[in-house]
Amino acid sequence: MSTDAFGRLMASADPAMIVVTTVAENEPAGCLVGFHAQSSISAEHYCLWLSKANHTYRTGLRATHFAVHFLTEADLAVAEWFGTRTGETTDKFNSDKFAGRGADGRVTDTDEHGLPLLRDCSNRMVAERIAMLDDGGDHACFTTRVLSAHTEGTFTPLRLSDVAHLDAGRSSESRSVHP
Ligand SMILES: Cc1cc2nc3c(=O)[nH]c(=O)nc-3n(C[C@H](O)[C@H](O)[C@H](O)COP(=O)(O)O)c2cc1C
Repeated sequence: MSTDAFGRLMASADPAMIVVTTVAENEPAGCLVGFHAQSSISAEHYCLWLSKANHTYRTGLRATHFAVHFLTEADLAVAEWFGTRTGETTDKFNSDKFAGRGADGRVTDTDEHGLPLLRDCSNRMVAERIAMLDDGGDHACFTTRVLSAHTEGTFTPLRLSDVAHLDAGRSSESRSVHP
């Protein structure tokens, strides 16, 4: 198979970018995600694919809830912050290096599930995990049931073509186990 053609076809879809956050045992995690999709209308289900190389994936394995933040064209710095460094070595939620933090120094609020919600990203959903599918690829699929959704109205999404120049903080090649 031509991997070039596969890559071009996938890029032609130019998905909207999201930041997925989650929490397990009070440990927050989050990363930039391009692999995501609605998977049911009623009930409202949503699928997220997390790279097995990511800190967010490892936290997600133990998590029950996920927050899905839809980025706007103004959120390049958020995409850069969550997509180019790993939670293994950077505290993405309490760093004075992130311009998006509030005056109190915090990047997120915490909801009733303990989920970190990005303060400046109000177009978002909170979802609970239904199942996880590992089909042997370098990403695993988390299927979720959407519990709440909020938007400020129409917005221009930040798309893959806007962030394609970013280098992922954890390469999908760097997962610890290769089949
Ligand atoms: C354009 C772009 C798209 C990405 N898409 C995904 C994705 O769909 N799923 C995923 O798990 N990681 C994706 N990543 C990678 C993570 O956002 C990145 O490796 C991050 O630094 C991982 O952080 P963590 O180790 O704290 O989870 C993408 C990165 C970029 C730059």
